[in-house]
Amino acid sequence: MSTPVPVCLADYEALAQGVLGVPEAAYLFGGAADEITLRANRTAFDEMALVPRVLRDLRGGNTAVTLFGDRYSVPILVAPLAYQKLFHPAGEIATAQAAAAMETGFVLSTLASTSIEAAAGAGEGAPQWFQLYLQPERAQTLHLLRRAEAAGYRAIVVTVDAPINGLRNREMRTGFRLPDGIRAVNLGPTSGPMMPMHGDPIFDRLLASAPRTADIAWLRQNTKLPILIKGILHADDAEDALALGVDGVIVSNHGGRTLDTAIPGVLTLEAVARKVAGRVPVLLDGGIRRGTDIVKALALGASAVLVGRPVAAALAVGGAQSAAHALRLLAEECAAAMALCGLRTPDMITRAAVITATARPLP
Ligand code: FNR
Ligand code: LAC
Repeated sequence: MSTPVPVCLADYEALAQGVLGVPEAAYLFGGAADEITLRANRTAFDEMALVPRVLRDLRGGNTAVTLFGDRYSVPILVAPLAYQKLFHPAGEIATAQAAAAMETGFVLSTLASTSIEAAAGAGEGAPQWFQLYLQPERAQTLHLLRRAEAAGYRAIVVTVDAPINGLRNREMRTGFRLPDGIRAVNLGPTSGPMMPMHGDPIFDRLLASAPRTADIAWLRQNTKLPILIKGILHADDAEDALALGVDGVIVSNHGGRTLDTAIPGVLTLEAVARKVAGRVPVLLDGGIRRGTDIVKALALGASAVLVGRPVAAALAVGGAQSAAHALRLLAEECAAAMALCGLRTPDMITRAAVITATARPLP
């Protein structure tokens, strides 16, 4: 029996199930609680229909976009994913190389198992962003920020939707824990949530370092890099973020890993994008598996999308080469979907390209 050749991202996800250990697969593919949001992230896309257009002159078309002055050959970024050495020994080095080779974006997690500097070296010449989890002490946060700046990262993505870890039951059932030798190498051994002795376990202890408005204002004072807020699902939260001087918004429910039954990002995207009204780019993640999903996201107001699990799945299957191949498959699907919708370039994608049965703008 010959090894099946993956022809789409779902193929890589299926193959990865056979490569990864049961706990690692549960960590990668699982979501919070009953995984209702995890599944809804997919069904939301599947229930939207694209509207093909014909007879247009598509010569000279391309999928390239510009974000914060940098060019990307497709409106795709690799989402920040913690601990990638769980999936392949080369970890973030391999995904950074894959993204650079395919000219997509790449976002390094605060919880990377590779140093900020080494990941930057692997993606040499390609624009990379750094995802920041605020640390219990501002000095620690500032240290991460300065290292990211020095290493040449082009933007800071502040994730605000995971102040506490989601209750990921699939993962818990397997007893998943980080193996010896894999850790968040960019954080000091003493860092971690502060644990005051008294008070409510969730509201007073775990949330001690949860990001608040004042933290974003402080961050704004402390870097010239573009700041994006990741984890927005309401138009008013986007407006509040803009008032703090942020440069971009990422509509996301953290891949269904935090609050189960939370609304899929793609269902709130239009309302957020309307509110933002072109002042800053709006990005989307959660459930992007096909080029058609990308066209739908752009039609509803996104400038680009992030892809999480399938990239890690491809990494598990075949390291940098497979991760690059997965990104290429998605890029080719995106170009094909655009062409069949009569769209020559991403900025030609308008609301008219998609019919949504379920997506209603929030009030
Ligand atoms: C994540 N995500 C995430 N987000 C973040 O801001 N910092 C992080 O360290 C991580 N780590 C992480 C690990 C794993 C294994 C997964 C699956 C996800 C969330 C991620 O950036 C993104 O929002 C989702 O993965 C997007 O959904 P899809 O593409 O996986 O459906
Ligand atoms: C996760 C955390 C690390 O989703 O963001 O696993």
